[in-house]
Amino acid sequence: VTIRESLEVRERLESGATLPAEWYVDADVFRLERERIFEHTWQCVGIAEGLQSPGDYLTATVAEVPVVVVRNKAKGLRGFVNVCRHRCSEVVLEPHGHRNVLQCHYHAWTYDLDGQLISAPRSDREPDFDLADYCLVPVQVGALGPYVFVNLDLDAPPLAHYLADLPERMRVDGLELDGLVYNGHWEQEVAANWKVVVENFDECYHCPVAHPGFSKVMEVDPEGYRLEWGTWTSRAVTPLRTYPGGPDGHYPYDVSGPVKVGQFAYLWPTFTINQSPGPRAVTAFYMVPLAPERTLLVTESHIDPTTPDAVVKDRTDFTREVFNEDVVLVESVQRGLRSGRVRHGRLLLDSERLIQHFQLLVSSALDSSADRGC
Ligand code: FES
Ligand SMILES: [Fe+2]
Repeated sequence: VTIRESLEVRERLESGATLPAEWYVDADVFRLERERIFEHTWQCVGIAEGLQSPGDYLTATVAEVPVVVVRNKAKGLRGFVNVCRHRCSEVVLEPHGHRNVLQCHYHAWTYDLDGQLISAPRSDREPDFDLADYCLVPVQVGALGPYVFVNLDLDAPPLAHYLADLPERMRVDGLELDGLVYNGHWEQEVAANWKVVVENFDECYHCPVAHPGFSKVMEVDPEGYRLEWGTWTSRAVTPLRTYPGGPDGHYPYDVSGPVKVGQFAYLWPTFTINQSPGPRAVTAFYMVPLAPERTLLVTESHIDPTTPDAVVKDRTDFTREVFNEDVVLVESVQRGLRSGRVRHGRLLLDSERLIQHFQLLVSSALDSSADRGC
């Protein structure tokens, strides 16, 4: 993406046009996004529930780089590129587990929980071999409540810098990350570019049309639906409907509870955190870009442990229903973008301002003249 192209796109974005359709299918753009966005930003890799004791670990892939996050002996979280310094096998293969040391499954080079190489079979026969020269490559680790993040760039500002006042704003509207219990995980691969998924998340213009169940619970008209954004985050807040919408006159789940508003927050580039009215509960939803037209969607859910089982089930069904409706939408958009017959869409900024905010971040990040510290 040349400077001239970036500036041209930027001008169009300011006036409400969307990013060019080819940015959602082109392998070169995807590669550039990896270099300029995903190698320098905070990516969620899972939850901390399985990382309580020294030696507990999880593995993930960030910008096509295998990573491992482990609880060390000092009880801190450490993160490493999960690639052996011997001959580049992944050190750990399992998605999560517990180990006293990180021993490579290929030739048993063995690293401690701080990434130091502590043994390499037969290396004592090599005259110049010093274990200290071959520690695992570190990555940054951060956390928000139970969510664990990794940043491949050791010079990137901390996660808190990007979150800024978002956690406090969410707390004011009832988002509680402490005292909840884990309520399950699901993931699904979809045939859409990651940006299509973010953009679908960033607006509720489609809610009355595509989410009848959701629209029974929360106000979805522009007067009730508040949008706000900061440098790296954005958020929509909407109250519980005072009466259920729709002809059948009932809510899809029991909405009684302390939480009176829905909120849907986004952190650049691929993380969202969400709350629906009713019992205290939170759902994180994040994306792992796999290819220009393939994205893994991951959902992690937590809920107040006193919530009755029937309510937990109804809420889980509700969330899944909205998720499934969104999958149909994003895959449909992807087919339209791939056609290349409509190069720029047109945002309605009153309802879709957060998409513009997101697309400006994308275009700035890809602008070859921009500071890479995005
Ligand atoms: S590649 Fe890891 S020990 Fe050989
Ligand atoms: Fe949706």
